[in-house]
Amino acid sequence: MNKIYGHFDDQAREYVITDPATPWPWINYLGSEDFFSLISNTAGGYCFCRDAKFRRILRYRYNGVPMDDGGRYFYIREEDGSVWNPGWKPCKTPLDAYECRHGMGYTRIAGERKGLRAEVLFFVPPGRRCEVHKLTLTNNGKTARDFRLFSFVEWCLWNAATDMENFQRNLSTGEVEIEGSTLYHKTEYRERRDHYAFYGVNAPVDGFDTDRESFIGMYNGFDAPQNVLAGQASNSVAHGWSPIASHFFRLHLEPGESRTLIFVLGYVENPADAKFAADGTIDKTRAHELLAAFDSEAKVDAAFAALNRYWDDLLGRFQVESGCPELDRMVNIWNQYQCMVTFNMSRSASFFESGIGRGMGFRDSNQDLVGFVHQIPERARQRILDIAATQFPDGGCYHQYQPLTKRGNDGIGGGFNDDPLWLIFGTVAYLKETGDFSILDEQVPFDNQPGSEVSLLEHLRVSFGHVTANLGPHGLPLIGRADWNDCLNLNCFSNNPDDSFQTTENKSTGSKAESLMIAGLFVCEGKDYAELLRHLGKDAAPVEAAVSQMEQAIRKHGWDGEWFLRAYDYFGRKIGSHENEEGQIFIESQGWCTMARIGADEGLCDKALDSAKRILDCEHGLVLNQPAYTRYYIEYGEISSYPQGYKENAGIFCHNNPWVIIGEALAGRAADAWEHYCKISPAFIKDQDLHKVEPYVYCQMVAGKDAARPGEGKNSWLTGTAAWNWYTASEFLLGIHPEYDGLRIEPCLPADRFQTYRVVRRFRDAEYDLTIHNTGRGGSRFIPYEPGKHKIKIEL
Ligand code: GLC
Ligand code: GLC
Repeated sequence: MNKIYGHFDDQAREYVITDPATPWPWINYLGSEDFFSLISNTAGGYCFCRDAKFRRILRYRYNGVPMDDGGRYFYIREEDGSVWNPGWKPCKTPLDAYECRHGMGYTRIAGERKGLRAEVLFFVPPGRRCEVHKLTLTNNGKTARDFRLFSFVEWCLWNAATDMENFQRNLSTGEVEIEGSTLYHKTEYRERRDHYAFYGVNAPVDGFDTDRESFIGMYNGFDAPQNVLAGQASNSVAHGWSPIASHFFRLHLEPGESRTLIFVLGYVENPADAKFAADGTIDKTRAHELLAAFDSEAKVDAAFAALNRYWDDLLGRFQVESGCPELDRMVNIWNQYQCMVTFNMSRSASFFESGIGRGMGFRDSNQDLVGFVHQIPERARQRILDIAATQFPDGGCYHQYQPLTKRGNDGIGGGFNDDPLWLIFGTVAYLKETGDFSILDEQVPFDNQPGSEVSLLEHLRVSFGHVTANLGPHGLPLIGRADWNDCLNLNCFSNNPDDSFQTTENKSTGSKAESLMIAGLFVCEGKDYAELLRHLGKDAAPVEAAVSQMEQAIRKHGWDGEWFLRAYDYFGRKIGSHENEEGQIFIESQGWCTMARIGADEGLCDKALDSAKRILDCEHGLVLNQPAYTRYYIEYGEISSYPQGYKENAGIFCHNNPWVIIGEALAGRAADAWEHYCKISPAFIKDQDLHKVEPYVYCQMVAGKDAARPGEGKNSWLTGTAAWNWYTASEFLLGIHPEYDGLRIEPCLPADRFQTYRVVRRFRDAEYDLTIHNTGRGGSRFIPYEPGKHKIKIEL
C-alpha cells in the first residue's frame, strides 16, 4: 500500500492533508488582485504586494535546511514547558490531530494536543492588501487550561534579492514602531519608500517582540525560540539586525471554552507627501482602517464569504458532471484554480521559482491566457495589450517583460522565433471567448515607444510576417535562440559555463537551424489568422498561401518516415531523425504537426502519434525525446546539459503532453487521448511519495523513464501545463469549443466510459446547459450564440 498524505474533498473544493510530513511542502496561494501569499501545509511561505522581488513582505530562506522554514507561526507553550504549533512545524512536537485544508484562496490549518485545539484560517480578503489569520483556540479537555501563545513573522527588507546578500547595509537599516497590539515594519520608510507593513491583532497583548535575536536567541532556531521556551516576551524594539513581529498572550480556557483572535498582516502605501504624522512617526490612518475592517469575527466571516462567492463565480463558468470523479475535480476545481494562479503569478513565485528571477514570458503569458480567458475576460484583454506592447516593429518580441513596469526585459532580449505566433494564439482565444472585436482596433505601441502605436490587428500581421520573413533553406522557420523548447539552442555553441544558454549566440550568422515545432505552430496559427481575416471580411488569400506552402515544406523536408523531424541544426543536419544517434524523436513536432493535421490524408498523423506512443510513452506520461542525450552536444545547447530523464532532456514535460492529446483527439483516437490525459493528470496519482509534489496541481516536469526515479514530479504550480490541460480537457475531450458566433460541440472521449455527460458553460451573456450523449461515432454540432439560458441535448 502506498502511503497517503491527503485526499480530495470535492464538496468543499479542498485538498485535505492529514500528515504534515509531506514528501515536499505542499502549498497553496492566497490573493487574487495584488496582494499574494504562498502558504505551505505547515504555514511556511511568504507574501508580497504586486511584485515578488521588490515588495516582498515576509522573509523566505531559499535552499534552507530543512526546507521551508519561516512563515506565519503560532507557538503554544503549555504550563509544563512543552511547546507546539498547530501546523506541526517548526517545533514538530507530535500532535494528536493535524489537518490542513487547502481551498480556493484560503488555507485552514488545525492541530490538537491533549485536548487543546488550535485552528487557523488564512486568507487574503478580496480587495484588501493583507492576510487575515483567524485563530480559534478551543479547550476540548475536561480541565481548565492555562497556556501562552506567541505569534511570529519575520520581515523581509523589501527587496527579496538584496535581502539575501547586502548584509553590510541590511543589518543596520531595520526600523519598527509599536502601537498597542500592532507591530509596524518601517525599514527604509524614512527615505524613498512610501510603504510599510504591520502585524496586528484584535486584542490587548501581554507583550511582544520585534527583534529576532531577542526572541529566538543567537544560537536557537525557529523550533526553539528562547522566549517561547521561557514563556515570556522581551518587548524588544528592533534597531537594525533582523526585525520580526511577535505577539505574546497569557491565555486561560475553561473546559469547552473557545477564544478567537484575529491577526492582520497588512501592507500600506501612503502618498509621498503624507507619509508622516506630526511627530514624525508613520501616518497610520490606512493601517487603522485595515485593522478595523477585520476586528470582529463577523467582519472576517463576511469577507470570507465574499471570497467564496468570488470563486463560486469563477469556477461556475464551466462545470461538468462526467461520471468520472477525477476528471470532474480537475475540470471543475483544481485545473481552473491553477490557471488563475498562473495568471496571477506567471512564472514568478513558487517553491521552484524564487520570485526574484524571471519576468513574465511572452509565450508563457499568451498560452496561460487560454486557461483563464473564460473566467476573467476583462483582465485577459489588458494582458494581451500589455504583451503586444513589448513586440518589436518587425514582429519579433522581447522574450520576457517585467510586471511592475510592463517593459521588455533587455537582459534577455528577443530572438525566440516562436514568440510572435503566440500572440495570434492568445488573441484568437480571447476573441472566440468574448466576441469583443474592439480589441483589434486598440492602438498598441512597439517596444512601449510612444508614437509607434498601431492597431492590435496590425500586431498580428507583423507576428505572422515575422515567420515568413525568417525562413531557412528548407522553407521552414528559422529557430533563432530557441523555439518553445528554451533548451534547444542551436546557435549557442557555448563552451563557457558562465554563459547563459538563453542569450548566447556564438554562431548565428548563416545559421541553417530550422524548427518543425514552429512550422506546425505556424500552420495552426496561420489557419486561425486566416479564419479571423475572413471573419472580418478581409483578404485571407496571401495568408492561406503561406500556410499551404509551409504544409508542403513540412511534408517534403519534415517527415522522417515514421514521425516528424524536430529541427535542422546550424549546419543544416537533421535533429529528431532515426539517423541520429540520440534524440531520434521529439514530442513537440509530433504534437504540433498532428495538431496542424499535416499529411493526415496520407496517414502521417496516425503514424506520428503511433510512434510517439511506442517510443516516448511510459507509465507516467510521454517523455520529451528519445533516446535521451547522454553527453553534452555543443551544437544543441542546454537540452543536452541535463542528465537523462530530467527537464527538456527526456523528462515528461507535462506542458507538451496535451499537444499529443489534441493531436489524438483531432485524429479521432479517443482511447489514446484519454490514456495520455490520465497519465499526467494529478487526480489520478496513486503513489504520492514518488510523485512528491502536490497531488492537486500539475507540475511542469515529471522525471522520465531514463531518470533515477521515474515518476518523481518537480516544479509544481507555475507552468503552462495548467492552461494546456484546461484547453485540452474543456475543448478537445469534453468538446466545448468557443467559436466567433457560438459554441461548437465536438467531443472525443471513449464511449465505453463516457456515455452521457453534462456541461454547464457560461459563454458571454448566455448559459448553456448541455447534456451530451457520446456515441463514439464522432461528429460535431454548432450552437449559435444567443443570450439567455439554454438547455440542450446533443447526440454525437
Ligand atoms: C519553461 C518555460 C517555457 C518553455 C518551456 C520549455 O516551462 O517557461 O517558456 O517553453 O520551459 O523549455
Ligand atoms: C531553463 C529551463 C527551462 C526554462 C528556462 C527559462 O532553460 O530548463 O525549462 O524554460 O530555463 O529561462
